[in-house]
Amino acid sequence: MLVVLGIGPGDSGLITVRGAELLRNADKVFVPGNLAKKIVSPYVEAEVLNFPMTDDTERINQAMEMNCATIAEVARSGTAVLGVLGDPAFYSTYARLWTVMSERYPDIERRLEPGVSSITAFASRLGVAVRSGVLVTDGSEQECLVLLKVKRPREKVDDLRSQGYKEFGLVERMYMDDERTYTEAEMPESCDYMSVMFARK
Ligand SMILES: C[S@@+](CC[C@H](N)C(=O)[O-])C[C@H]1O[C@@H](n2cnc3c(N)ncnc32)[C@H](O)[C@@H]1O
Repeated sequence: MLVVLGIGPGDSGLITVRGAELLRNADKVFVPGNLAKKIVSPYVEAEVLNFPMTDDTERINQAMEMNCATIAEVARSGTAVLGVLGDPAFYSTYARLWTVMSERYPDIERRLEPGVSSITAFASRLGVAVRSGVLVTDGSEQECLVLLKVKRPREKVDDLRSQGYKEFGLVERMYMDDERTYTEAEMPESCDYMSVMFARK
């Protein structure tokens, strides 16, 4: 199995309890660079993989093929953890590797473990409270929307579809015993207050 783990924004103490357990119990931990290696170092000695900082797609693809082969050797019979900065699902180095893993090694189970993202951590650091609509961007075209406090998901999907959104998901009471996730087809009329909706154009 491959677990892609978010190791937080920089302080080893901001790795989650689950993350620390995963790091300690993994058969092998890989990281994309020396900063991540340092962050996980109180828990484990990690191996640095080659994630080239370049726009050269040929070089990136070659590196990802090699990284996936290295990870697959471990992940086929044990647990390989790839520790990435912040949260793995936001602007992360893992995305390309994840695609290659699913194409070349579809038999190897993969999962994501969340980490503290710079997208939320900065606010505590700056002492600012975000209480209204917020735009998070890397400068590219806006295509994703994250909605909190959604009360009527199905109605919201209809509304967003008319604005050009095409892909939808909803998670209710995530990481709790009674967690539920919904695809677009399953979208409920109403939902729990503890729900997050995701939409993509
Ligand atoms: C490729 S993105 C990775 C984001 C990461 N997956 C996350 O969830 O925080 C890198 C960008 O995240 C932000 N970032 C990540 N860690 C940071 C930190 N410790 N301090 C400030 N900004 C950070 C910076 O804007 C940086 O350019």
